[in-house]
Amino acid sequence: MCGIVGYIGSKNCIPVILGGLKRLEYRGYDSAGVGVLLNGVSKIVKNKGKVSLLEKKLEADKIESTIGIGHTRWATHGEPNEINAHPHANQDGTLFLIHNGIIENYQTLKKQLRHEGYTFRSDTDSEVIIHLIESFMKKGNAFQKSVRLALSEVDGTYGLAIINSKEPDRIIAARKGSPLVIGVGEKENYIASDVSALIAHTKNIVYVEDGEIVEVYADKFVAKTILDEDIEKDVIEVSMTLEEIDKGGHPTFMIKEIMEQHESVFNSMRGRLIMDEGTAKLGGLDTVVDRLAASKRIVISACGTSWHAALVGEYMFEQFLRIPTEVEYASEFRYRNPIIQPDDTIIFISQSGETADTLAALREAKRKRALCLGVCNVVGSSVARESDAGVYIHAGPEIGVASTKAFTGQLVVLALITLLVARKRDLSLADGKKIVEEFNSIPDKIRKILELNDQIERIANDFKNAKNFLYLGRGYNFPVALEGALKLKEISYIHAEGYPAAEMKHGPIALVDENMPVVFIAPKDSTYDKIISNIEEIRARKGKIIAIANENDSEIDRLADYTVKIPETIRMLMPILTVIPLQLLAYHVAVKKGLNVDQPRNLAKSVTVE
Ligand code: AGP
Ligand code: GLU
Repeated sequence: MCGIVGYIGSKNCIPVILGGLKRLEYRGYDSAGVGVLLNGVSKIVKNKGKVSLLEKKLEADKIESTIGIGHTRWATHGEPNEINAHPHANQDGTLFLIHNGIIENYQTLKKQLRHEGYTFRSDTDSEVIIHLIESFMKKGNAFQKSVRLALSEVDGTYGLAIINSKEPDRIIAARKGSPLVIGVGEKENYIASDVSALIAHTKNIVYVEDGEIVEVYADKFVAKTILDEDIEKDVIEVSMTLEEIDKGGHPTFMIKEIMEQHESVFNSMRGRLIMDEGTAKLGGLDTVVDRLAASKRIVISACGTSWHAALVGEYMFEQFLRIPTEVEYASEFRYRNPIIQPDDTIIFISQSGETADTLAALREAKRKRALCLGVCNVVGSSVARESDAGVYIHAGPEIGVASTKAFTGQLVVLALITLLVARKRDLSLADGKKIVEEFNSIPDKIRKILELNDQIERIANDFKNAKNFLYLGRGYNFPVALEGALKLKEISYIHAEGYPAAEMKHGPIALVDENMPVVFIAPKDSTYDKIISNIEEIRARKGKIIAIANENDSEIDRLADYTVKIPETIRMLMPILTVIPLQLLAYHVAVKKGLNVDQPRNLAKSVTVE
């Protein structure tokens, strides 16, 4: 899942491409490369590692060009080295391409092309595309037609850009399954995987759809389908600002995103609560809310952190809607021919809206005619556009690879959906009003929790050398335990597991000794007494107990080695609060270990491959 950027116009493309690639490093950072035309001759510079290393190399070369493409890679096929870095060129270097996605039939195509006399330099799947294009050109087809014919032969996914040094007035871009946008400027045009790479230059954006090929010139662009039909594309003005994507004075994006959750959560609910009616208003669901309220079953499907939000959603829906709800990993859901009835509603949760597994699950559910709803953060993303209806999280751009504010935003949106539908079913006005009131108090409660940052940093310091962690919670806080463990694993590389607290005695308790930190999420709710017993069980085995508890809870101080006291709220909204100390704990442990929290090893922000 790479990031791609292209430029054609009258200024030097190098700073544009490098700036764009840096914004896209959340998509991968195994290697980086650019390809430009210098007096009509192609020049490719690439290297292993991050964009900053490529930048140094380019500075030394002093390259300037008005047309170029660049790539930051997250390897799927072939190790992350210089040879496998994109762009990939044809035999004589007149054609070169950057690719995001996976060509599934690349082995077959490679065999066929080798037979035709083509030699391959890299181990990537991507390289077949460029030779395939050349082979069509050699048979007398024009450049654009050859791209079209080549793409008709590949299976899999792509967002790509190609330059032909013999036709230096254009870049050809195409999309199937990987995100791609065109930025429209004054006598200059841009290509990128997403809008954040272009916002410094233009806000006028064209969203390229699957099956479209666009010839991008300096002063125009021509879009066609892969079947060569003309298409009109709308230019949309986006509102994202550069400031929104910057670190805002924080050392890392992750801490910025954690520390702004009182605002992002407020933004997720802004204008969506109606106190007088004790309900929520979600414009995106207006046309489908009755069908949703009449669903016989709800399925929520997602990956990673979004899947944890889905688990919280299950508790919400079953408590308040009394509609049977299931949660499915998108990757499993799509492959096991799921039973889907027309009166089912399937909700897809995705921060990026580009996760390949989630998108494929959505397409499968649509084929089976269920009502498909999207809960996404990235506006205009594929899941958002392809679902029947949906709700945006409005958490703002999330750049840190470890999801934080998107998670709390997802919980807010799921709770809003719960409130809206519950009021259509059997929730009373009085109960609805109580929930609205609680919602309104959440941003301030988050602010109070964020003030505990220093205390949590001290706890992190005591555990930075731990080898394992257990996270335990019950009910609504069981998914929070899973999320706390995932955050720690992702950025600190410490092995951590989340369990329902009561499950612990069925196995994981064997792991507990005086070196095992155990994080209990233990707010005062109906399961409180039970969780206290679970804490006792760990204490008896000398585990180190870190408890996330409520402010008025003094009993827990006696039992826990460390307590983090947070405000109370209703059960449904509690995970929005309990997860924040866990995000901070993971963050500080990773920073104290000297790790790069924004770009942890082996991960990418949005997993657009399967
Ligand atoms: C979260 O910290 C992870 N990096 C990852 O699990 C993520 O939540 C998952 O890949 C799903 O992404 P999405 O929400 O963009 O679909
Ligand atoms: N499959 C290509 C490679 O490995 C592109 C990777 C991607 O988009 O994730 O180089």
